[in-house]
Amino acid sequence: MDLLLLEKTLLGLFAAVVVAIVISKLRGKRFKLPPGPIPVPVFGNWLQVGDDLNHRNLASMAKKFGDVFLLRMGQRNLVVVSSPELAKEVLHTQGVEFGSRTRNVVFDIFTGKGQDMVFTVYGEHWRKMRRIMTVPFFTNKVVQQYRYGWEAEAAAVVEDVKKNPDAAKNGIVLRNRLQLMMYNNLYRIMFDRRFETENDPLLLKLKALNGERSRLAQSFDYNYGDFIPILRPFLRGYLKICKEVKETRLKLFKDYFVDERKKLASTKGANNEGLKCAIDHILEAQQKGEINEDNVLYIVENINVAAIETTLWSIEWGVAALVNHPEIQKKLRHELDTVLGRDKQITEPDTYNLPYLQAVIKETLRYKMAIPLLVPHMNLHDAKLAGYDIPAESKILVNAWWLANNPDNWSNPDEFRPERFLEEDAKVEANGNDFRFLPFGVGRRSCPGIIIALPILGIILGRLVQNFELSPPPGQSKVDTSEKGGQFSLQILKHSTIVLKPRSV
Ligand code: HEM
Repeated sequence: MDLLLLEKTLLGLFAAVVVAIVISKLRGKRFKLPPGPIPVPVFGNWLQVGDDLNHRNLASMAKKFGDVFLLRMGQRNLVVVSSPELAKEVLHTQGVEFGSRTRNVVFDIFTGKGQDMVFTVYGEHWRKMRRIMTVPFFTNKVVQQYRYGWEAEAAAVVEDVKKNPDAAKNGIVLRNRLQLMMYNNLYRIMFDRRFETENDPLLLKLKALNGERSRLAQSFDYNYGDFIPILRPFLRGYLKICKEVKETRLKLFKDYFVDERKKLASTKGANNEGLKCAIDHILEAQQKGEINEDNVLYIVENINVAAIETTLWSIEWGVAALVNHPEIQKKLRHELDTVLGRDKQITEPDTYNLPYLQAVIKETLRYKMAIPLLVPHMNLHDAKLAGYDIPAESKILVNAWWLANNPDNWSNPDEFRPERFLEEDAKVEANGNDFRFLPFGVGRRSCPGIIIALPILGIILGRLVQNFELSPPPGQSKVDTSEKGGQFSLQILKHSTIVLKPRSV
């Protein structure tokens, strides 16, 4: 670092301390802020609470500070909501006021400052993007058009696993094959494309770039520059890498998928109603002038991050739970055999007639919620919550994991017990009909992909249990379910090796 930069930084820090003290004095008078640890100038609470504000740490803080508390992370205000009543207030009653999204310095890069749908503020652009994406992605018609494809992909997983001699003996990292399935499920919808193998060169490129994007965005390494703007010059190297990844990635989407589809459409007339895939609808919106070319690419970007990995993490958690609870696996297999018979492979419509399967899916989403803090919300203007003032542009985290794992709300939440969804919580659905259970959020910014994610989860978990006995590798009694956190995801730390023994006919 050169001396000039250091000098500027120190001067800046000094100025920031003075400004922060003045502002906090002024604000303290005007605002009744939610409780929280006492902040120090410049750093706020950052040095006290650290970087890893995962769902468990935030739940511990809620026990101390209450159902709504405020953390000052440098210059950013972070408000954490931890009760069903306040979740309802934020997501439903005051859904408009709290319906925007925050972006940090890295998300600004990956979303072109909110030219996408997931990370844009609540307003005209968001409404338009959500409307344009609904018809090609989020309707029952889409499910009916693509369910055969999802069933075929699940059948291909079963076939490939059966062909792999390691699967029945020492075990395989099933996740790798499931990842190919999830890419195919979504690339069929988006581009009417699929990849033959896990090692398809184009798929490898996509996975590498999507993986890099997730790693860079989920990391805590850049927090200092985001929380304390004066330190931002030190992030230059990090942000440069983010920009490169973003540009290479969008170019890949454009050159290999969007432009290919355009070519095909012009030569084969793929715009016939029956043959339309999602990108055809999106390009139509572009032709009508509703969105621009960048928006088209950001829609592809959003689906790559919001749809594929989230569903994959949930399948992975579901498989791990079934491996570690053989009695639950057996009960599920019994339901499949009894309702469908030994010869019929589960299809999408069957998934709704299998209550125990539904309960296993819900329990998986409750126990290991893939997006445990939802995607951060934000209030564009000063707002009120539970009698407190919430300064404009605060980042609002709803600790959905804690709502679903708080022993005050659930009996023995630490236990993986699907039966709860058939007994005391039989009326609770994954769509947010109960504010204790919000794996997909609820309200205006809730996950529109629930309509796709639930049947895919049902088909693949059902087929695996119908065709195999799943167990840990030899010498192990359980697979490791340690968690890996990120800015807002909950993934399994080590992708499990799983033994899949084909069932005898
Ligand atoms: C098990 C799988 C999934 C889980 C657990 C999940 C969860 C979530 C959550 C918690 C949110 C944020 C809700 C909020 O902030 O209030 C969200 C948003 C979103 N999800 Fe999903 N999701 C899944 C699958 C999908 C799929 C398959 C798609 C697309 C095909 C999708 C597309 C989106 C989009 C576009 C948003 C942003 C909505 C907006 O900001 O208006 N998700 N998801």
